Amino acid sequence: SAVEKGNYRHFMQKEIFEQPAVVANTLSSYVRPYDGKVALPDNDLDLSAIDRVTIVACGTSFYAGMVAKYWIEQFARVPVDIDVASEFRYRDPVLEKGSLALFISQSGETADTLAALEHSRACGQIIAAVVNVPTSAMAREADLLLPTHAGPEIGVASTKAFTCQLAVLAAFAANLARAKGKLSEEEEREIVKHLQEAPEAINDALGHDDDIQAMAHLVAPARDVLYLGRGPDYPLALEGALKLKEISYIHAEGYAAGEMKHGPIALIDDAVPVIVLAPSGPLFEKTVSNMQEVRARGGKIIFISDAKGLAEAGDGCVATIEMPEAHPLIQPIVYAVPVQLLAYHVAVLKGTDVDQPRNLAKSVTVE
Ligand code: AGP
Repeated sequence: SAVEKGNYRHFMQKEIFEQPAVVANTLSSYVRPYDGKVALPDNDLDLSAIDRVTIVACGTSFYAGMVAKYWIEQFARVPVDIDVASEFRYRDPVLEKGSLALFISQSGETADTLAALEHSRACGQIIAAVVNVPTSAMAREADLLLPTHAGPEIGVASTKAFTCQLAVLAAFAANLARAKGKLSEEEEREIVKHLQEAPEAINDALGHDDDIQAMAHLVAPARDVLYLGRGPDYPLALEGALKLKEISYIHAEGYAAGEMKHGPIALIDDAVPVIVLAPSGPLFEKTVSNMQEVRARGGKIIFISDAKGLAEAGDGCVATIEMPEAHPLIQPIVYAVPVQLLAYHVAVLKGTDVDQPRNLAKSVTVE
């Protein structure tokens, strides 16, 4: 049956608000609260033999893969290579037979990713795929299918598929870590517990919708917008910038906060909104010092952090968005929400075609 918008103005808005439910639904097939274990769908792969992971995807799915690189390396201590599919296919990467290639795609039909998958297969890699459409080509091709249960995503700008991909990738990282002997039972139980907190934390983030709508006018007139983050929030900065570009047509760039001083800081003046993603934690002070450099040059900062981070460094920002305290493993899932909502409200204010932005297709099935 056809998917309806219900009480929402756009599919994108509806899909943003579906996230607590679809992330919970996705997690329910990867975590087992009754014994505190993470679980993957039945398979006969020996994950303990995996010594290298190659991640390939496009667009938003690629940014989910970037977050996964941080998790897989941190938890499982397995090195990860990551490429956008259109580069991977043609750069003749060194692929060892029996190594694991992980493809991430909402549609499961993206031409570049599919061709990369076929290349990996021909090189003898084991194929895992995180896919939202269970009947898609990639779902059929995978040795290990890791489905997301986001339901049909209609808005061209990917939202709920992204957070569901992150949920699956977190569970995958934990699983690989266990197989590699890098996770104690207690640590695994902790991870399961925190993953299960994700839907509630997303819900809390969605509670700031009105505030974010009210700050959209700070961004809508801008010609350029920068997004900054460190660690797993760096891919989130890239994702925030992509969302804004796609649907509001404002030029936006995501940068690793520490790279600012190597070039992009030259762009900063009082007409450039800078969105800073900085949960409190080990990287907080570093990001805040990059933020002060921006402020000293007149940049207008929209600061996204938790209560502790806002208390420490929120003064002098033009706007702040308070996220719930969250374990590092679920922070990227939670911080995705305000960047989605900000892009959405800016686009609505600009009057663009939010669900069908110009020049874009939902599924890019040509090279
Ligand atoms: C995201 O908002 C995009 N519209 C786009 O970047 C998308 O993520 C990309 O084309 C990959 O699509 P897929 O996940 O279906 O492979």
